[in-house]
Amino acid sequence: MAMPVDTKELQDKGYIIVRDCVPPGQLESLRGHCEQMLERHKRWWADNRKPDEPPGGEWESGPQPRVLFDRVVDPEAAESVEFVFHENTHGISKQLMGAEEVAPLQFGMFCNPRTDHGPWDWHRDIRSWREGPLEGLFTDSLANPPAYTQWNIPLYDDDVLWAVPGSHRRFNTEAENRQLSKSEHEPLDSGIPIELKAGDGVVYLNTILHWGSNYSTKHRRTLQYTYRAFGGDIYPHAHSFVWQPELIDKLPAHLAVKFKHFLDLERSELALIEHIFSAIIGLDERKFRRGLAELHPGREGRMTCLVLLSKRAKNIRHHPREPMSNRFTDRERELLWQRFLPLDSALQADSPQLVPGFQNKEPTPYIFNEMPAFDIDDFVASWTNPP
Ligand SMILES: [Fe+2]
Repeated sequence: MAMPVDTKELQDKGYIIVRDCVPPGQLESLRGHCEQMLERHKRWWADNRKPDEPPGGEWESGPQPRVLFDRVVDPEAAESVEFVFHENTHGISKQLMGAEEVAPLQFGMFCNPRTDHGPWDWHRDIRSWREGPLEGLFTDSLANPPAYTQWNIPLYDDDVLWAVPGSHRRFNTEAENRQLSKSEHEPLDSGIPIELKAGDGVVYLNTILHWGSNYSTKHRRTLQYTYRAFGGDIYPHAHSFVWQPELIDKLPAHLAVKFKHFLDLERSELALIEHIFSAIIGLDERKFRRGLAELHPGREGRMTCLVLLSKRAKNIRHHPREPMSNRFTDRERELLWQRFLPLDSALQADSPQLVPGFQNKEPTPYIFNEMPAFDIDDFVASWTNPP
């Protein structure tokens, strides 16, 4: 049984601290296993280093080298993947998301850098051109159970992460914007450190303003796991698996079968999105509305799902490597994007803008904060009567 958590606390504060997330009796063995994974991953970094990187690659040069366990596990050493499904991680994520099906997107470990990189930047894990306006995301995950959670679980005491409680359900305040415009690398008056003892965990909504306060050389080994729901009320803004399908061959059978199932869930979801896009291309309003309601059953916040689909449609049109691109002909890709153009324009301002405290640090016309006065009816109307 997962320990009970207060889902309202997550909605209110934007994070929950889970004490002894790693059961104390398991901490030493998980530390040992993760060190073994790190040693393997150092070889991966060296083998995959970029031309401008030192011989050890990211391990030597990165501000926060991140082990991705799926790259280095094998059937005999998979404790870090086993822990992805622990009742204190997966079990609690399921409770918080109110979903039967919850899949990991990524499971890795942050390490301290070789040299001091100091305070990083305050941000929400959002790029306005990638996920759309902040208002859409917080409206959606306040009206419905969230469909994406992110965890930090330090194996040694760790207070690197700071957050601004409650900032996941509002825009930056004037005072925050003033402070952030001066520097994104200093403590915010509204921020607090998330003080975690070895084995504690924090689960948070990544729309919250948060800060890697100090990438110093102090010993750091902090698990980072992310999860998404399938079949909940929301289509999550982070939805793609970071792990690769080859992972399945590197796992013991009881774990491999779980990941095969996640690939099935993803396949069904992609088929549904293809169905929705075909309806849009074919100007079939009923089919479109039914498909959209299946992808995002929550009535409130459904527009946010449509905004996320517009990003996917843009990628299908412009990026041949988008996994869905080969499901459509060139003509269909072009038609699909034409149908989304009015919504895409409504998501943009007349000139590039920059709001501090987001992941994108360059000005962009894509609006950071407010959702446009453009709803699903406007979208349907715009297929045949572009504004
Ligand atoms: Fe972040």
